[in-house]
Amino acid sequence: MKPFIFAANWKMQLSFDQARSYAQENKQKFVELATEKNKIILCPPSEALQELCDLFKGTPVAVGAQDISAYKSGAYTGQMQAQSLKELGCTYCIIGHSERRNYNHETNQDIAHKAQQLIAVGITPIICIGENRDQYEKKQTHTVLSEQLVPLFDTLATAKQALIAYEPVWAIGTGLVPEISYLEEIFTWLNHQHTSRLPEVNIELLYGGSVNNTNAAKLASIRHLQGFLIGGASLDFQSFKNIVSLV
Ligand code: PGA
Repeated sequence: MKPFIFAANWKMQLSFDQARSYAQENKQKFVELATEKNKIILCPPSEALQELCDLFKGTPVAVGAQDISAYKSGAYTGQMQAQSLKELGCTYCIIGHSERRNYNHETNQDIAHKAQQLIAVGITPIICIGENRDQYEKKQTHTVLSEQLVPLFDTLATAKQALIAYEPVWAIGTGLVPEISYLEEIFTWLNHQHTSRLPEVNIELLYGGSVNNTNAAKLASIRHLQGFLIGGASLDFQSFKNIVSLV
């Protein structure tokens, strides 16, 4: 059986010192959570990547970044190369998070280019997709997800593996979670999309948006769901551990 994935997105919630202390103080406990059953991926703010990569080197805990440049190299002030992530020891990278789509106006095409950079250096992309509240209410979810997936599927054809995280924007950080029956339908549809378009690529599906210890067990039972992308609840070790223990 494949391990269930728990990817922790610390966003910009912790400073460098805070992220380092959090990881150092809980290092052994994070390592103990990473078993054959559970894959643990920690995604700290970029300034703490080196610290975490060094700290978890040689352990089963993986480290991921929260974003990457869409370009290989060049005059792109403030951006980070996928190659640098590789050199640091990162094995995953989140791209297309709704906070970047919204605040940084990233397009589906930009995100496909980012995926391409990651694939080229052998880093597994964690690609976020999802509809906003308005689109959800207008029942446009499938249309929005299709638009987000189409440019990606062309890029992913050359990948070995990728994670796709379905995160309804209206569920992120709000405490709201869609009905299980709604998610069952979405994940069945997503599974059909990638298995029919990219049968050769190892794609695993994650859910993200207000995952916590009251909803994790139920969410984890959804067919075709292989993991969670966890924001708020990953910032406290005990709540993160509670989620892992429930699945
Ligand atoms: P949340 O964030 O768990 O705090 O809702 C999830 C995410 O943004 O990936």
